[in-house]
Amino acid sequence: MMILSIDTSCDETAVAVTDERHILANKIYSQILIHKKWGGVVPSLAKRAHEERIDTVISEAVQGSGIGDIANVDYIAVTQGPGLAVALEVGIRKAKELAKRFGKKVIVVNHMEGHIYSCFAQNSNGNPKRDFVFPFLAFLISGGHTELVIMNDHLSYEIIGETIDDACGEALDKAAKMLGLGYPGGAVIERLAKTGDKKAYLFPRPLYRSKDINFSFSGLKTAFYYALKKMPKETIINNLNNLAASFQEAVFDSLFNKLEQAMKKTSINRIIVAGGVVANTYLRAKIRKLVKTYGGTVFFPPFATLCGDNAAMIGIAAYYKTQKGLFIDDLDRLDRVPRLRLSF
Ligand code: KG4
Ligand code: ZN
Repeated sequence: MMILSIDTSCDETAVAVTDERHILANKIYSQILIHKKWGGVVPSLAKRAHEERIDTVISEAVQGSGIGDIANVDYIAVTQGPGLAVALEVGIRKAKELAKRFGKKVIVVNHMEGHIYSCFAQNSNGNPKRDFVFPFLAFLISGGHTELVIMNDHLSYEIIGETIDDACGEALDKAAKMLGLGYPGGAVIERLAKTGDKKAYLFPRPLYRSKDINFSFSGLKTAFYYALKKMPKETIINNLNNLAASFQEAVFDSLFNKLEQAMKKTSINRIIVAGGVVANTYLRAKIRKLVKTYGGTVFFPPFATLCGDNAAMIGIAAYYKTQKGLFIDDLDRLDRVPRLRLSF
């Protein structure tokens, strides 16, 4: 079953062709260079860049997949939300246009559900035997989200914990910006932290002792800001590695702590970890270790290109929606939902 999928939720124009869980093509045009100089994503620029690129990325995906022509796909899938309204619109408009032109049905996918299904991808470079044995506890860590989700079945989601302010990736991005390291910051912080001392500075871990499994990163961000404000510029420059390591540790400590609490609370030890921040190898090693102490199994996206935003994950989630007949009946009424939440 061939699906052409589109994700334009933020600053990546992404198109893929998938066959069930197999990825035939996964093309991503990143807008990072466009937004970098502004220190974050500028919606109007994102919209324009998606519009300018989308046809090219679709052609590249179709060519790369070897299916010959769009007419040969069975369905069109597209991200409905969450994300930037003006960016989501570009993908949805294109999905409608293709569906009408080629007489295909449309499936809409929640971007976060896409991140979850990214952990079950297969392609010719690797074919991990990852079975769907429910329940899973999904840990979603990205630039826009920090969520703990119970999955008792396909496409069924119960959010049991989430951030009450900033997302973990957003916190890393903001710290990087304060250190003058550019945007996005997660990968730079990781690189610097490798040779830094994570105990050099002690930053707060908000909500660490609270009984619920929610997250908070804005107090940490403020503490970091004031710590830097007190430091002479030279001290900051000479301590970039230590500052990065200590800040990263504060963010990750909160993540490990709440993941552990969630595992205890739910007694679920099959863990899915997905979203851009999962690209961090230090974080993966620590999560692997933690889950192992509970005799559990952890699933990360099997390929690096599946950690950040991509459309293959949308195609894989869409496949499970086709199995339940979840198609859009009235294309004209289909619209983006920028604040879409995961639900049962
Ligand atoms: O999933 P994603 O590509 O976009 C959203 O849906 O938000 O996640 C992007 C986030 C950014 O905050 C970025 O700094 C972070 O993922 N990120 C990382 C790493 N690579 C990307 N965070 C920590 N370590 C990394 N290596
Ligand atoms: Zn994402």
